[in-house]
Amino acid sequence: MSQYQNDLILRMINGEKTERYPVWLMRQAGRILPEYRAVRASLSGFKELVETPERAAEVTIQPVDLLGVDAAIIFSDILVVPEAMGLPYQMIEAKGPWFENTIKSEADVSMISADIDVADRLGYVIDAIKVTKKELNGRVPLIGFCGAPWTIFCYMTEGQGSKTFSKPKRLLFQDPQMAHKVLDMITDVTIKYLKLQIEAGADIVQIFDSWSGILGPKEYSEFGTKYVRRICDAITEVPVTVFAKGAYYARKELGELSCQTIGLDWNMDIAESRALVGPNKTLQGNLDPCVLYADFKTIEEKTKNLLNSFGNQRHIANLGHGVYPDTDPEKVKCFIETVKGFATN
Ligand code: CP3
Repeated sequence: MSQYQNDLILRMINGEKTERYPVWLMRQAGRILPEYRAVRASLSGFKELVETPERAAEVTIQPVDLLGVDAAIIFSDILVVPEAMGLPYQMIEAKGPWFENTIKSEADVSMISADIDVADRLGYVIDAIKVTKKELNGRVPLIGFCGAPWTIFCYMTEGQGSKTFSKPKRLLFQDPQMAHKVLDMITDVTIKYLKLQIEAGADIVQIFDSWSGILGPKEYSEFGTKYVRRICDAITEVPVTVFAKGAYYARKELGELSCQTIGLDWNMDIAESRALVGPNKTLQGNLDPCVLYADFKTIEEKTKNLLNSFGNQRHIANLGHGVYPDTDPEKVKCFIETVKGFATN
């Protein structure tokens, strides 16, 4: 007997034949839900929510109860890692993350450290996972996560969101040695962090490489995949998902990683991705989040087209990136219900 009431996503990842495709959404815990906004409004801000395990657990479970997804994802942020390493962040309302201190040159590398007690610095995430596991009580598996080293390097150097991320990219060409040093440090901390998440109860871990799309194949191979590979090789306890947004050019290389699942964004054709990745991995994605702005009939139609393209192979239904905050939760439910009503054969 499985320890879960619903272990569909784990069975799919293991390559078992399942009755339907599992479904969850990136960024499912968050601003689309009025129930999330109510919890958030009762606190001083995003960081307090992330750092208060009971409240983080509460918003992690909301989409399981309210949307009926097949997995929960722990409510946290990828930016807790740079903070733990020495670069604190702020989450500015309606603007996004902001780092007071950033790495601009070799001299700034002394601001960060990989020699930290991860269990202590990120204890609030580990506690949130433990509380969530207890409260989920086996309803669905829990996904843990981290940012990929390249994406974390982007925030450590740019200090905020950007269209071009020219600061991290500039460093790759000006001082590749320094970039490797920092990427290496992030990788060390990330491996420890993921192992702690798994010990606390994470059933799957997902690596978000949100900014892989700004590099080209050569640079991504050297500064991106290299470190993602190290993480995949180190994490043998639970299945790993790699979501490298925009890295359509690297799908073959990503398919050779020792991870179980590859996340696809909406730029990536399913059949073409399957051909590049091969039959032995699960693919996850990739409905354009903007489809959820359409009417219910269109959402249903486009979701079915996507499900048909899966061709009874190993797939997890998801969006091609996080759900946008101004999406109607009823439209999200339409996507989820359409997936749940679609039988594999
Ligand atoms: O439901 C879930 O997916 C779990 C929670 C989660 C958050 N962030 C909460 C969050 C996850 C998995 C993330 C990952 C994350 N954070 C990524 C990778 C995924 C991606 O979107 O590419 C990145 C790049 C970040 C960094 C980050 N955090 C940005 C750029 C922003 C601001 C823009 C935005 O999307 O809101 C955040 C803030 C953030 N992280 C919010 C949430 C719910 C919004 C904060 C709020 O409530 O106001």
